[in-house]
Amino acid sequence: AGIAEANSTFGFANLAATRADTITLPAGYRFDPLISWGQPLHDDSAAYRGDGSHSAAEQLGQFGENNDGMSFFPWPGDSDRALMAINNEYCNYQYLLQHGKPPQSLADVRKAQAAVGVTIIEVRCDAAGAWQFVQGSPYNRRIHANLPMEFAGPARGHDLLKTAADPAGIAPHGTFQNCSSGMTPWGTYLTCEENFTDCFGSSDATLALTPAQKRYSVKLEGASDNRWHLYDERFDISRHPNEVNRHGWVTEIDPFDPQSRPIKRTALGRFKHENAAITTSRDGHVVVYMGDDERGEFIYKFVSRDRFKAEDPAANRHLLDHGDLYVARLGGQEGEQRGSGQWLKLAFGHNGLTRENGFSDHGDVLIRARAAGSQVGATRMDRPEWIAVSPKDGQVYCTLTNNVQRGTEGQPVDAANPRANNVYGQILRWREAGGDAAAERFEWDLFVVAGNPQAHPGSANAGSANVNADNMFNSPDGLAFDKDGRLWIQTDGNYSDAGDFAGMGNNQMLCADPLSGEIRRFLVGPRGCEITGVAFAPDQRALFVGVQHPGEDGQSSFPDHRDGMRPRSTVVVIRREDGGVIGA
Ligand code: FEO
Ligand code: CA
Ligand code: CA
Ligand code: CA
Repeated sequence: AGIAEANSTFGFANLAATRADTITLPAGYRFDPLISWGQPLHDDSAAYRGDGSHSAAEQLGQFGENNDGMSFFPWPGDSDRALMAINNEYCNYQYLLQHGKPPQSLADVRKAQAAVGVTIIEVRCDAAGAWQFVQGSPYNRRIHANLPMEFAGPARGHDLLKTAADPAGIAPHGTFQNCSSGMTPWGTYLTCEENFTDCFGSSDATLALTPAQKRYSVKLEGASDNRWHLYDERFDISRHPNEVNRHGWVTEIDPFDPQSRPIKRTALGRFKHENAAITTSRDGHVVVYMGDDERGEFIYKFVSRDRFKAEDPAANRHLLDHGDLYVARLGGQEGEQRGSGQWLKLAFGHNGLTRENGFSDHGDVLIRARAAGSQVGATRMDRPEWIAVSPKDGQVYCTLTNNVQRGTEGQPVDAANPRANNVYGQILRWREAGGDAAAERFEWDLFVVAGNPQAHPGSANAGSANVNADNMFNSPDGLAFDKDGRLWIQTDGNYSDAGDFAGMGNNQMLCADPLSGEIRRFLVGPRGCEITGVAFAPDQRALFVGVQHPGEDGQSSFPDHRDGMRPRSTVVVIRREDGGVIGA
């Protein structure tokens, strides 16, 4: 059995691992850069200079840094035209700033804030079948860390969301650390705020962090060299303790309305959101699957109260404000790598989410979703990254990227997280009871356990049977199905090509057949990058892939490959030389 009944094998040969500083593809495929960090968006935007010297104001008119998750929005009635929404996750300060150091001034912080969030672009397909970015399109837009936004849903106006700048708790500013994303059936983009706490710190080194702050890994000294709190008091938790509660949400954006205000949908809970995989239940409710990417954190799903109405777009616009949030508990015998699971409702007054247990109301449950998940007994996972739903059978797949803390206090090895000091990761899969995405029970198994059968023959670290010396990889992260049911896997792992990772080369993209379990390597990225972000044109003759932070190790000049030009994150578009369907 294979992916497409008529074509039971992949249409390309497994690609060898490599350390080459480019995009390597199977024979018959080509890539072209679509857009790179710093590329001017508007007719009057500054041309990219390549040396990090742009100001914050110039960056606001240029493509953002560190592109990550993205979606392709077909143009109604024109198959050669589309919008793309592309996340810009965080900053590589060694390249973003001319001095190559972490921010040293408010001007540096403002530039960083201008470089993150989301970029909306228009793309067009030419007569030769090549998709190209349209500079000057009125739809091109930067959605950045200081843009006025709105809260909606049950936590809107909650006391924990109120700040001096917004005493009503309804109008947050900006989005950042936008990891991956989702696309709604009503044509909007969901951007997911992941490591938001990295942007916060405290000017008071003696401040006592609250249990809620600790649970979200807020650090007094800040993280990832952002240093925003030293120059922009909004990010100083000793002065504005609630500001950190205004991030960590799923934010909905209408790419077709450049004037629209993004809306933070609080009903989907606050945590370090990876992506939002959207499907509909058997009776038409919208279901959103979401991972919380931190060691030992949970998998969630949201089920809308109201039904999706294809014929009534306006009625769908606020579907994500009413519904139930659930968290997953996975059962199973250790060593079995399969079992049953349960979705536990996170609603105030249910499952011990009560005043006696420290929850004040439903908004509080959503703002402190992690604490609520612990209260109800959710299963601590090996860093849930992307989730994808099969268009063929509705099975749901989730990358568990790695977890070096597995096997330590509070995170014992279990059936779904089977290895202590898990450096390779695994992909979990589940089937909802009755095939209904709104079900409260499911059956799960592990689709692949990554490993290195050469470095660790005969042990759990060799990986599962579908991993071999030719296709091995580590730290699965990006994950998406194409319409034919091929499962595409992207990696954000150790690219040393040595030791535990010998033979794996640079970060990469693989393609799996969910039925046979076979996995083939399809793409290898340039040095020091993560491959993250995947979108297909509807005809599947163009595949958009994100190359994030090439050269973070100083070893890349991708994509310009010219002296004096810094490496830069880039979205590439991949085609077959013969114009055929990607992967087929
Ligand atoms: Fe931004 Fe968990 O990756
Ligand atoms: Ca990721
Ligand atoms: Ca990752
Ligand atoms: Ca990343």
